Amino acid sequence: MNLTNYDAINWNQVSDMIDKATWEKLTEQFWLDTRIPVANDLGEWRELDDDHRWVVGHVFGGLTLLDTLQSEQGLAALRQNVQTPHETAVLNNIQFMESVHAKSYSTIFSTLNTNEEIDEIFEWSNTQEFLQKKAIEIGNLYMDSTVDPLKKKVANVFLETFLFYSGFYTPLYYLGHNQLTHVAEIIKLILRDESVHGTYIGYKFQVGMRQLTDNQQQDMRDWMYNFLYDLYDNEEKYTHLLYDTVGWSEDVLTFIRYNANKALMNLGQDPLFPDTASDVNPIVMNGISTSTINHDFFSQVGNGYRLGEVEAMNDNDYRVQRPNANKDINQAD
Ligand SMILES: [Fe+2]
Ligand SMILES: [Fe+2]
Repeated sequence: MNLTNYDAINWNQVSDMIDKATWEKLTEQFWLDTRIPVANDLGEWRELDDDHRWVVGHVFGGLTLLDTLQSEQGLAALRQNVQTPHETAVLNNIQFMESVHAKSYSTIFSTLNTNEEIDEIFEWSNTQEFLQKKAIEIGNLYMDSTVDPLKKKVANVFLETFLFYSGFYTPLYYLGHNQLTHVAEIIKLILRDESVHGTYIGYKFQVGMRQLTDNQQQDMRDWMYNFLYDLYDNEEKYTHLLYDTVGWSEDVLTFIRYNANKALMNLGQDPLFPDTASDVNPIVMNGISTSTINHDFFSQVGNGYRLGEVEAMNDNDYRVQRPNANKDINQAD
């Protein structure tokens, strides 16, 4: 391709206000893993038995792999098909934060685990069958230039709003019991980012979906639900592998079905599973509802993270009137 001209990005002419609102939300909730005093959890960590420590280490290994995939391929794939230059800027922001997420698990490992344990966790993550299957299935969609760009958005939202949650369950469970609260603080910051990412990418999917014919939309829906079934089937096996020894598998499966429904809502689709928030273990919901704890950004003396005044995303953040639309977009966090 030979360029004949190149356009500068003009933030004073924004055609989709969702781009601007998302940029502002993401930059205001920026954070770094190195500012969280994870070592404060060492006392509680040493009191856990081997089975529970194994679960914590390996769910974080799995999450590291998925965030690595997002940082290396997921956002790069979406950047190939943007509607606006501001969308590219938002995706750049998301991509950097995925690198922060992936790195933050290493910050946790280096505090809680021995070098031998860390090596084993990465060896496991890089070879475990069910974990690798999800990374490969999603990664193959991202990296294949012949795949419909809308399907890449679906894959992205399924990863962001569904596949992370078998892993998020563990730190949220401990947070609900007021244990490992600094580790959980990192996860809550990641979760807050993923919530915005899933909502934004889901919104861009809905914009693209509206440009399809009824038949094309139906084909997309059929593909999407089949793909979700396929991922859920694998997620069941992954969950049993991780959680059977500590007896949490059924609770985790309820939680991931609840989040699968949220992923579908982000994509503007009907829920698939009967599970709702009231079915999820209330201790885990309690962990989710805990807002991030304030702490002193510069001295790290606090027990949470503080940079500017931020709050969790809610529906009102997306009630932005777009120039060419007169109704609110569908979204779920
Ligand atoms: Fe992430
Ligand atoms: Fe993300």
